[in-house]
Formats: sequence, structure tokens, C-alpha cells
Amino acid sequence: MSKAVRYSEYGGPEVLEVVEVPEPHAGDGEVRVAVRAAGLNPFDFKVRRGGYIPNHQLPSLQGAEFAGVIDEVGAGVTGFSVGDEVLGWIGRGAQAEYVVVPAAHVAAKPAGLDWAVAACVGLVANTARRAVDSLALGSDDTVLVTAAAGGVGVIAVQFAKATGATVVGTASEANHEFLRGLGVIPVAYGQASDGTSELERLRAAVRGPYTAALDNIGGDAIRTALALGIPADRVNTVADKAAVEELGVQGVGGGKKTSEELAGFARQAAEGELVVPVRSTYHLPDVVAAFRDLETGHGLGKIALLIP
Ligand SMILES: NC(=O)c1ccc[n+]([C@@H]2O[C@H](COP(=O)([O-])OP(=O)(O)OC[C@H]3O[C@@H](n4cnc5c(N)ncnc54)[C@H](OP(=O)(O)O)[C@@H]3O)[C@@H](O)[C@H]2O)c1
Repeated sequence: MSKAVRYSEYGGPEVLEVVEVPEPHAGDGEVRVAVRAAGLNPFDFKVRRGGYIPNHQLPSLQGAEFAGVIDEVGAGVTGFSVGDEVLGWIGRGAQAEYVVVPAAHVAAKPAGLDWAVAACVGLVANTARRAVDSLALGSDDTVLVTAAAGGVGVIAVQFAKATGATVVGTASEANHEFLRGLGVIPVAYGQASDGTSELERLRAAVRGPYTAALDNIGGDAIRTALALGIPADRVNTVADKAAVEELGVQGVGGGKKTSEELAGFARQAAEGELVVPVRSTYHLPDVVAAFRDLETGHGLGKIALLIP
């Protein structure tokens, strides 16, 4: 038997349990990974709250990304051996002692890369890469990135900066200094104590017009982007499916993943080209506390679960 995070009813973090499940084994074309760290994502709790994806079966395992050490290699697998350090993705079940995935779903972990960062880089970098590419940004652009200090946002601002665009990011004051360090112009979201609105502050932050927006929070933030005069087809949201229908904005996010791209993100993180802040780590028995932290909806970057 081995340990895994599981829930048997829909709900908040309190429905999470660490339970004993049958130990999985690698079949043909698969590897088994002894997990050292798993990344937490809003996708985990959206699914767990119920109604987010069709035909979801309970009880359910949880977690979509991991880093660890290969300890079984199935028949027909080439390029990986027992003892290799890897990072990878899985539909559900990364928050566990072992995962079994197709060998095509893992990439070599650079030797110096921290386990927590390795577990947390893939999903957000893949999402941010596709979102930024969808807008074909260039040096003439001024792009608004909402929730710029969040897991996706903090990567999206770096990919957007690399295109030469001017990048303005919304975040709470506590995260402004960090964003300035990435070359981002930070703007506080919501109504401020001085009575100014988010729209007014965004207008005051730059001289010229905004030409594009990468939304990572949805709702009013998208309406604010449109109120700035950004055409709907140059607004991309990864957080608000309804707005794609209602407002005609783009909804390009993660989805297709390749192990080559994952290896590239890991290399960038290891070489310091990509900053992947992990604000806190928790151990497996503290998974409820880890999700209570994530589900505040505030904080810089990512949270990882360390295993064992
Ligand atoms: N479509 C896809 O493929 C895909 C993939 C990944 C994620 N997503 C979705 O994208 C969204 C972001 O994911 P994530 O991993 O980045 O989440 P996250 O790390 O939990 O994001 C938290 C961030 O949101 C910020 N925030 C909270 N309220 C805000 C507001 N009113 N205005 C601006 N920022 C606000 C917080 O900023 P402060 O700390 O500064 O307050 C915090 O940094 C989620 O809805 C997630 O499900 C979609």
C-alpha cells in the first residue's frame, strides 16, 4: 500500500484525507515515480468543489503535477532509467507517494533544480506560454497582466517582458516590490483607500494606450481591460470561461503539453532565466492546511506539497 491524497465527497479542504491506496506499478510504456514534491493548483480545488468537469468520479485522487525519482520502468520505455530525477504531469493523483504515467509525460529534472520548484513550474509555465503566444506580443505593446503575482501571472509577466512589451501587472501592495524586480509596473487592484478605482490607476500607470491583456482572475478584471480600450480579441483569459462566450475575449490556456517543452521550462528555471517563486511548502500530512493557504486566493507564486 502507499499514501495518496483523496476525497470522497465534494467540498472544501476539509474533505481531503491522506489514505492508503494500492501501490501502482508501471505497465508497458510507463514509468513509476516516487514523488518528492507535488504542485498545488486552483484546478485541484475547482474540481473538488464539484460541477467543474463532467463525469468526475468519487472518490477522487488529486494533483496534476509532480517531481520525483523514477523507481520502475515499464517494457518498451527508452530514455529513462530507475534513479532518474524527473518532473511530469498526470490528470489526477500527483499528491501521492507514487504516480504511474506514460514515459512521454515526464522530463529530466536539471540536477540543481529544487524539488518544489520542479513540481510547480510545469502547469503554470505551459499555461502562460500558450496565453502569451496567443496575443503575439511585441515591443509596441503595452500589456495588462491581471493577478500578476499568482502562479500563472508571475510566469506570464516574464514571458510577456521577453517579447519587449511594456508590462503592467495588478497585485496587492505586498507583491509590488517583487513585480518591480521583474520589470513590471505594478498597480493595486480593487478600490483603494484614496478612493481611486483600478481603472483610474491603470490609466495613470502608463502614458500610451493599452493594447493587450492577459487575464488570470476573470470577472470584473476583464471588463476593466475592455474599458481601457483593449480590443476583445487582444484580451486572453485563462480564468473565466463565461467571459469568452459573453464578451468575445480569447480563452487560450494550458492543454496540450509536451515533455520537450516541460524540459525547457525546467532548464530555464534551473538557470535562473525563469523565476518560479514558491511561497510555501507543506508536508503530505498537512495537505488540508496547504489547500487552506491556496484557497485564500492571495499570495506570491506557488505552493508545493513535499512527500514523504
Ligand atoms: N485555462 C488553463 O489552462 C489554466 C491553467 C492554470 C490556471 N488557470 C486558472 O487561472 C487562474 C489563476 O491561476 P493561478 O495558479 O495563477 O492562481 P493563484 O496562484 O491562486 O492566484 C492567486 C493570485 O490572484 C491574485 N488576486 C486575487 N484577487 C485578485 C483581484 N481581484 N485582482 C487581481 N489579482 C487578484 C492574488 O494577488 P495578491 O496576492 O497580490 O492579492 C494572487 O497572487 C485560476 O482561476 C486557475 O484555475 C487556468
